Amino acid sequence: MFKENISIKDYNTFKIDIKCKFFSEFKNTKELKKILESSIYHKNKSIVLGGGSNILFTNDYDGLVLKNNINGIKIIKEDNSNVNVEVGAGVDWNKFVNWSVERNLSGIENLALIPGSVGASPVQNIGAYGMEVKDSIVRVYAFDIQNKAEHIFQNKECNFKYRDSIFKKELKNKIIITKVVFKLVKEPINNISYGDIASELQILKLSPSPKNIAKAVTNIRSKKLPNPQILGNCGSFFKNPVLEKDKFLKLKKKFPNIVHFVISENKIKIPAGWLIENIGLKGYRKGDVGIHKEQALVIVNYGKASGKDILKIAEKVQIKVKENYDIKIEPEVNII
Ligand code: EPU
Repeated sequence: MFKENISIKDYNTFKIDIKCKFFSEFKNTKELKKILESSIYHKNKSIVLGGGSNILFTNDYDGLVLKNNINGIKIIKEDNSNVNVEVGAGVDWNKFVNWSVERNLSGIENLALIPGSVGASPVQNIGAYGMEVKDSIVRVYAFDIQNKAEHIFQNKECNFKYRDSIFKKELKNKIIITKVVFKLVKEPINNISYGDIASELQILKLSPSPKNIAKAVTNIRSKKLPNPQILGNCGSFFKNPVLEKDKFLKLKKKFPNIVHFVISENKIKIPAGWLIENIGLKGYRKGDVGIHKEQALVIVNYGKASGKDILKIAEKVQIKVKENYDIKIEPEVNII
């Protein structure tokens, strides 16, 4: 059941070559329960990995790494307008997006090619190109580590916010997500208003449909974001900061071209990628760590970078952003 002292390079998309003291995988709640009852579990700290696409290990992990391999995609309810699908937390996110668009179902097509697992999708409420996963989630099944029972969290109980949920806050390290139920719609949403989706569809000579939007998003992401199979990375390293209007107006005087999105009367979101690019750090490289050439929000491992090397650059970026704009940018990635 347990492997000892193994490298987890292949289980984190930053491709950091660190070792963990113990490693175990589980395919269902029965296997998970067995692990949680073991003495190795009780004597060690532990962490659960889904796709490993939002985590940065800065040291060898002196504990137990658990890999969630719960599989399965199952239709559990269907009517004229919707299909409810129950998906194992270990299913690869993009595999589920493909499953969905192949059936002409809508709701998650704009989230194509996001690395990671289905179980990780509610944790940070993944979002891209005008869509967030919270709008398609009905409920989340999570195994309570303390009382070893499965709990159901209805959408409202998940406290979803921008890149945030109850699973990242109050329930951090207390539960393990086992499956997620999604409600997909039969009438295509065709949300093509964000960024380059409409123009990409034109280039491809395709009309909007779940499948074609997923294709357009896949193309756009492939141009801008490095493929973690080739270049280790965790997607956006930082969250986009949200400023009060007063602060934003002051900043705009200094930087008239600042890119921004008004999200409410008093709140303005600034792409951290713009802030970083504008201080000349896009494409910066030191040793095996770099700021991606096409998207300044992404930090890449060119080969043998350690977690500490990556953290050092991330901190440098944070300091420069603070010095230049008096804005504190927060990592989106979990740093261990
Ligand atoms: N921009 C720059 N330079 C850069 C990057 C961005 O100037 O290097 C400016 C551009 O004006 C661009 C704007 O920022 O038009 C927005 O950029 P983009 O559409 O690439 O989105 P983002 O805000 O940088 C967010 C998500 C991404 C998601 C995209 C698309 C966060 C932290 N990131 O990035 O999510 O794919 O929107 O919807 O919200 C991820 O979380 O790992 C991720 C990749």
